[in-house]
Amino acid sequence: MPVGTQGSVKGISPQELLDIGSQMILANTYHLMLRPGEQLVAAHGGLPGFTAYPGPFLTDSGGFQVMSLGHMRKITEEGVTFKSHIDGANVSLTPERSIQVQEALGADVIMAFDECPPYPAERGYIENSLERTARWLERCHAAKTREDQALFAIVQGGVHQDLRRKSLDLTLLFGTPGFAIGGLAVGEPKEEMYPAVAFTASQLPEEKPRYLMGVGHPEDLIAGIALGVDMFDCVYPTRTGRFGYALTDDGRLNMNSSAPRTQLEPIDRECDCYACRHYTRAYLAHLIRAEEMLAPRMLSLHNLRYLHRLVERARTAIEQGAFQTWAQTWAQRYFRGAV
Ligand code: GUN
Ligand code: ZN
Repeated sequence: MPVGTQGSVKGISPQELLDIGSQMILANTYHLMLRPGEQLVAAHGGLPGFTAYPGPFLTDSGGFQVMSLGHMRKITEEGVTFKSHIDGANVSLTPERSIQVQEALGADVIMAFDECPPYPAERGYIENSLERTARWLERCHAAKTREDQALFAIVQGGVHQDLRRKSLDLTLLFGTPGFAIGGLAVGEPKEEMYPAVAFTASQLPEEKPRYLMGVGHPEDLIAGIALGVDMFDCVYPTRTGRFGYALTDDGRLNMNSSAPRTQLEPIDRECDCYACRHYTRAYLAHLIRAEEMLAPRMLSLHNLRYLHRLVERARTAIEQGAFQTWAQTWAQRYFRGAV
């Protein structure tokens, strides 16, 4: 899922998202409730009307964003209070309020209000927090009034297998239509993240979507898929694109460096995105140096298409029973060229 925190995937139009094969856009409760307010979005008929993106949306519940963006936050059993990063106003977010906002925003998939502990955090803290997250899930469940939105639960527990087990036991009871693996990609080393994904994904029902939140880099998508993950979101493709980097099978290309300035080939010969069908690396490198806004747009578009194609290729390999060989070949080439 491309990330459209403010109701816009930075620099990319809805038509472009449809053209590159995006299947769902992520938007954020935290940002949209503070500005412009969920009632304005509701007045447009929800996110599809507001943004003119006619496809599916998923909204994150806000807890994670409060922790990373809000100031002077205080967490209690009731919920979280914090100062808005926009105007400093005191705001409170509870499971009930999160569901109310997410119902007004009108996404197809809404996320349970959870707490994502930082990394590192004390075991005891993570344990209390996952228990509270489970109680908040129950409150989210009870607060829900719309029948046409799927509420996904979020499994926490940090990188500890026994705490993941505990969170799973408390969460699976609710039988929600999908489950997310939260609390990862928050600064822990990948040697700790992958086993946590492996264990959690292996314990989640195979017939329901498994969503790894905030991940990730191309190699994390491949690893996640190998471990049974079905959904991902990350700002990486658009953010790294705005910084002048292009994703390819040969690793991440630094378009700010001197080499691309004279290269008369596209970013990626195999890519079918608008940028690769029309522009040379030299032209795009020129746009970056001239600080033309087409540059970050085209690199974001290409990177999103690269990741969509990557998962399309993974899907095809799975269907052909050839995922492992395909993934190994992909990784060998990607890491040989990676910068
Ligand atoms: N985004 C990335 N990680 C998380 C998480 O643990 N919880 C929520 N709500 N969003 C996330
Ligand atoms: Zn491309």
